[in-house]
Amino acid sequence: MRDQPIILAGLAVFLVIASFPFWYNAATLRAAARPALQLPPGKQCVAPVKYMKAYHMRMLDSWRDQVVRTGVRRYTSPGGKTYDISLTGTCLSQCHQDRAKFCDRCHSYVGVRAAYCWDCHNSPGNAVRTAR
Ligand code: HEC
Ligand code: HEC
Repeated sequence: MRDQPIILAGLAVFLVIASFPFWYNAATLRAAARPALQLPPGKQCVAPVKYMKAYHMRMLDSWRDQVVRTGVRRYTSPGGKTYDISLTGTCLSQCHQDRAKFCDRCHSYVGVRAAYCWDCHNSPGNAVRTAR
């Protein structure tokens, strides 16, 4: 029983450290400062927004594999519309013209580095390569 104060102190230190992200966010209101994304007005994405939010990276991988490995260059959306499979020609040229205000804003907020795609793929409106 003599260890009890030490155990309690250890527990208190652990709780403070484990809950750090929560009270730090609450104290600085960082969680509220979500980036404002520039969305293409009145357009339908190639798949439902909810799906794109969670799985756009998988879809891009699958698009790349279809083009590079099987030569399939057209995609039919769940709504039955067809599109060219093209990161630059479809995603960026037709809808998300300003990559910096959409893709990059969210990626830097969540700490994702997808910038290497732009080493090869052109992005209109961001012709000059941005910092990685
Ligand atoms: C080293 C250069 C290079 C890098 C880096 C690269 N790609 Fe590609 N990608 C290509 C080439 C070459 C093709 C084939 C183009 C074609 O045949 O039209 C391609 C095709 C694609 C396609 C299908 C066709 C098209 O025009 O969109 C998608 C989608 C794609 N890549 C996504 C990505 C994504 C996402 C990344 C980053 C995670 C990425 N690529 C990084 C070179 C690259
Ligand atoms: C609303 C937030 C958000 C937006 C907008 C967004 N992404 Fe992402 N993206 C993410 C998240 C989160 C991940 C990481 C998911 C994971 O690691 O499981 C990601 C991952 C990726 C990856 C995989 C990177 C890797 O290294 O594996 C690619 C490629 C990508 N996004 C491309 C794009 C492109 C292109 C756009 C713009 C047309 C875009 N994203 C817009 C949130 C976003």
